[in-house]
Amino acid sequence: MNNTAQYDVVSIRNDFPILGKKIHGKPLVYLDNAASSQHPVQVINAVKEFYESGYSNIHRGVHQLSQDATRAYENARASVRGFIKADCVHEVVFTSGTTESINLVAQSYARPLLKIGDEILITHMEHHSNIVPWQIVCEQTGAVLKVVPISDAGELEMDRFAELMNERTKLVSVVHVSNALGTVNPVKKIVNMAHAQGIPVLVDGAQAIPHIPLDVQELDCDFYAFSGHKIYGPTGIGVLYGKEKLLNAMPPYQGGGDMILSVSFEGTTYNALPYKFEAGTPNIAGAIGLGAAIEYVQKIGLGAIAAHEHGLLEYATSELKRIDGLRIIGEAEQKAGLVSFVLDCVHPHDIGTMLDAEGVAIRTGHHCAQPVMERFKVPATARASFGMYNTFGEIDVLSEAIRKTIGMFS
Ligand code: ALA
Repeated sequence: MNNTAQYDVVSIRNDFPILGKKIHGKPLVYLDNAASSQHPVQVINAVKEFYESGYSNIHRGVHQLSQDATRAYENARASVRGFIKADCVHEVVFTSGTTESINLVAQSYARPLLKIGDEILITHMEHHSNIVPWQIVCEQTGAVLKVVPISDAGELEMDRFAELMNERTKLVSVVHVSNALGTVNPVKKIVNMAHAQGIPVLVDGAQAIPHIPLDVQELDCDFYAFSGHKIYGPTGIGVLYGKEKLLNAMPPYQGGGDMILSVSFEGTTYNALPYKFEAGTPNIAGAIGLGAAIEYVQKIGLGAIAAHEHGLLEYATSELKRIDGLRIIGEAEQKAGLVSFVLDCVHPHDIGTMLDAEGVAIRTGHHCAQPVMERFKVPATARASFGMYNTFGEIDVLSEAIRKTIGMFS
């Protein structure tokens, strides 16, 4: 057992009602945070209060409720802006999540620009949501998808990255933290390398946002995408950050209400940023919940959360390495709080089922990153991923449950 000094994990846990739940009669040990994190009462109450006493559509009514709902939605945007340190609120576009954010850039930024033979550069450790949108746009335009390889440790081969950037490369799209390996990529270095050749960079921050303090201006990325539900907020809400100049030059992604200034059958004038990209009634409650989640994370402090999770990662790594027949997949020097592993004698899905019987929730499968599985020659992995409320005692429960699983299968 170990403990991070001055980090009050007990009081944090008290804010998350679901953590008191029992699963199969055992205390829930929730280690599936990379798939989706749980919610503190502050987020649950913000959404509940909005539906109970503040609900209305936004940007449309002169009545009090609509004005109040509009203010709450825009306050959430302001919270996101402050959290990611964007220059201005209209660089913060609300989407349904990382997947929609990336598809938006693929269709609205890349598609009009790409010509036959142009290249989009991604990496071998991308989630499917940072592969398939580029395959689609390549099919539509005749552009070519290029892929940076990864090492046995699960790190990007940076020499190959540099070699693969050339005058045909029209965009680099790279994951900040790998959901399958935990690798933290050197995104600042990648942005600098790309910008030296005039190539814009999209960073997929789905797994980084709850773990790594972000300053998009300092990072100087051109786009940054993330989801609310990975950072203790609701599902169905996410963010696309984009530099104002790029977003302004891009055509709308979807047409509909709220993204226009005027419509006639002769033609339509589009709304200003960010509304040009927010067609239709948005996920108002989701945005408000995300704003509350960000306030909650800021209250605890992302630096303190990251330090706690790093302690959990180190402890889990050393404990799991002591288990005979367990192999960790992804041993990058820089990792965020998750451990992917396989066992010699048990299929990952069986590991997941056995651990569930002990109250331990992990994810098993290919983690929507099949090329990573193929790279490491495994059909799937078991993955324990940590959040701000996990404890060192829970790592002990995980290790014990894995040992029990091995005992039953051998
Ligand atoms: N992308 C999420 C994960 O890694 C769902 O589990």
